[in-house]
Amino acid sequence: MAVDVLLGLQWGDEGKGKIVDVITPKYDIIARFQGGPNAGHTLVFDDINHVTHTIPSGIFNDKCLNLVGNGVVIDPVIFKRELDELKQFKIDIYSNLVLSKKAHLILPTHRLLDAASEKAKGKDKIGSTLKGIGPTYMDKTGRNGLRIGDTLQPDFKEQYDRLVRKHAQILKYYKYEYDLSEMEAEWFEAIEVLKTLRMVDSEHLINDAMKEGKSILAEGAQGTLLDIDFGSYPFVTSSNTVCAGACTGLGIAPNTIGEVIGIFKAYCTRVGSGPFPTELTDETGKRMQKAGNEFGATTGRPRRCGWIDLPALKYAIMINGATQLIMTKADVLSHFETIKVCTHYLYKGREIDHFPYQLPEDLTPIYKEFKAWEIDLSKLDSMEQIPDELADYINYLEAELAVPITMVSVGPDRKEIIYRETVGSIS
Ligand code: GDP
Ligand code: IMO
Ligand code: MG
Repeated sequence: MAVDVLLGLQWGDEGKGKIVDVITPKYDIIARFQGGPNAGHTLVFDDINHVTHTIPSGIFNDKCLNLVGNGVVIDPVIFKRELDELKQFKIDIYSNLVLSKKAHLILPTHRLLDAASEKAKGKDKIGSTLKGIGPTYMDKTGRNGLRIGDTLQPDFKEQYDRLVRKHAQILKYYKYEYDLSEMEAEWFEAIEVLKTLRMVDSEHLINDAMKEGKSILAEGAQGTLLDIDFGSYPFVTSSNTVCAGACTGLGIAPNTIGEVIGIFKAYCTRVGSGPFPTELTDETGKRMQKAGNEFGATTGRPRRCGWIDLPALKYAIMINGATQLIMTKADVLSHFETIKVCTHYLYKGREIDHFPYQLPEDLTPIYKEFKAWEIDLSKLDSMEQIPDELADYINYLEAELAVPITMVSVGPDRKEIIYRETVGSIS
């Protein structure tokens, strides 16, 4: 059976966690393929509000195997904290959670290097979550990294010390003061916990599962516009967040990809630095932030808010080959009388409709206005009940984006979802 891929089409926080949780019952395996604890995926159901960071969002379904793929970077300390938070739910993590032996480890010094690098960048900082993501992927591609499987080697501590000595040199260059002793003790304690979990050759596990006809969903983190190759570089994360990342991050062949489910908000947000053409820095933006409760699930930072950006979305759909779309947070737009859609950009007196190499400051969005609906959507559960204005908005976006919108999310809760039509393997 093919592997479906679910990913974000904007700058992250599109509501991927919620949608994975909604569609998890249709799958045997949920697999994270990139990123690490920079992600924060929120699941809301039965009065539970839970955020996963490294653990896949299928963890609450006991019929589902959750796989942390080779493309993910793992901070043992955060992973242990995630496990501790799950204890209250009596989830059998020893049977339904597995880690790829090839996933790389985030060391305490990777976190320090992230902080030192950001400090040195000053006003040009990326706005990283400071979880050590960039330095860990640098060591991976620089062929210096430590992997989950290495924790089982007798010389693991020596490998660790060697890498830390290298990091100490770089931290000296940054003139960055630190005290590692407490961080290190906590890290090694957490490593012992990781060692009790099932570590697998996940590329074999997933390919065997496919042969056995098991259904698999690859869960993306971050969003397409944060992709290391195709995002708003350098204000991006350090992994391939796009669909192709699922192949390298899980060890699956491109021709095994089935549905590509692109998640987007009915508007747009960004956390951290970098260009954001449709950003609203006025009262309307503040209203959106409040109505959407736009505060980071990982860092608590306020998210920048703006109108939906069609050139950027079309670009993301192209790069991923999205076969279906899910729009989230439609309910947030109920707080406005008029809503806007950026259809083009105006750049140096010319109209452009593509996402340019760089997003210059003088790129002006051109908007089309829509009448909003101003009614509470959260109790609606069928397309027949939705206001005409929302139907117009969805139909317009679908026609422009040329990909079916199969679900519309109207609240954070698992139940607050409207199925639009039956397409593909997730319906
Ligand atoms: P992710 O990183 O893509 O999983 O998204 P986050 O969990 O970081 O951020 C999405 C936020 O919006 C979370 O607080 C969700 O509970 C919430 N959310 C998801 N879908 C909806 C929706 O349709 N409406 C509203 N109001 N909130 C939503
Ligand atoms: P989820 O999976 C939103 C952003 C950071 C920063 C940039 C680089 O919850 O959608 P990093 O820590 O990777 O070095 O940060 O990327 N960023 C996210 N923004 N959602 C995320 O994940 C993000 N993960 C990283 O804010 O701008
Ligand atoms: Mg998030």
